[in-house]
Amino acid sequence: MKRIGVYTSGGDAPGMNACVRAVVRAAVYYGIEVYGIKRGYSGMINGEIFKMDSSSVSNIIQKGGTILKSARSKEFATKEGRQKAYDQLQKFGIDGLVAIGGNGTFTGAKLFYEEFGIPTVGAPGTIDNDLYGTDYTIGYDTAVNTALEAIDKIRDTADSHERVFFVEVMGRDSGYIAIPCAIGGGAEIAMIPEAVTTVESIIETIRVGWGRSKTSSIIIIAEGEIEGGAISIAAKVMEVLPDMDARVTILGHVQRGGPPTVFDRMLASRLGIACVKGLIDGRKNVMAGTIHNSLVYTPFEETITKKKEISPDLIKAVEMLSV
Ligand code: F6P
Repeated sequence: MKRIGVYTSGGDAPGMNACVRAVVRAAVYYGIEVYGIKRGYSGMINGEIFKMDSSSVSNIIQKGGTILKSARSKEFATKEGRQKAYDQLQKFGIDGLVAIGGNGTFTGAKLFYEEFGIPTVGAPGTIDNDLYGTDYTIGYDTAVNTALEAIDKIRDTADSHERVFFVEVMGRDSGYIAIPCAIGGGAEIAMIPEAVTTVESIIETIRVGWGRSKTSSIIIIAEGEIEGGAISIAAKVMEVLPDMDARVTILGHVQRGGPPTVFDRMLASRLGIACVKGLIDGRKNVMAGTIHNSLVYTPFEETITKKKEISPDLIKAVEMLSV
């Protein structure tokens, strides 16, 4: 392994910069040349590739977003696109890759290895925390804390005006953001893709709350929840409870920005080093992660196909703590 490339791909996540920094500095430490690839697979196809050194990553550990930019490339999904990407890597003499991203990123990397033999080690970078093979993904801790801070503020105004708030958080396929927001934010209900919560049960919970003289409530909804998002769920509840004073807040991309927490900086730094070391040790097609605080490498095949389950006791805790 003489020359590696590093890229960020898919939805950005706080801590991606800390991970890029760790990859670059670890490569320098091990005496390997390192190139940055801009805009994920799209930059790989277009040859947006540049040499990096230790100073290229100065003053970025605390910054949200990604200095390498990120994109979701349709062209890389085609054989022609991947051929172009391979040609570019050949031009720069890159013989190994570090991919920082989520499921889509690793699906692309796996295919790329199978067709062209370029080894990739991945670092899990997504606020969703939905990747099998790691307890936590880079950016998740920051995103949850950002969301919780907003929910605390919503609780103040919900309490003053005696309202029900329907708060939508991110999580396309998972409730990993919604559950800690509900438990940590003292919400009545968390609606998540992994468990069925009917509109009828929300109505019942609100009514029971009113019966106990509760004057405000917070319902957390993961965007991937099957009933169809906070606006539609609020509308369905209001049809049955027309006197309810309700508001909807969609937290959206605010959850994707901001300086990473110390947890995310540590995780990103550790996994960035693990990616470079993994490539040096001849690993390929694997994602570096931590399980019970130990470093592990999981084949992309598993991270892509296996589902990381949410503990049922956490789902139950939301219900138990809102009685
Ligand atoms: O995967 C991270 C994520 O933030 C999801 O929670 C969300 O559904 C999606 O990305 C949004 O993607 P985009 O920024 O492309 O709208």
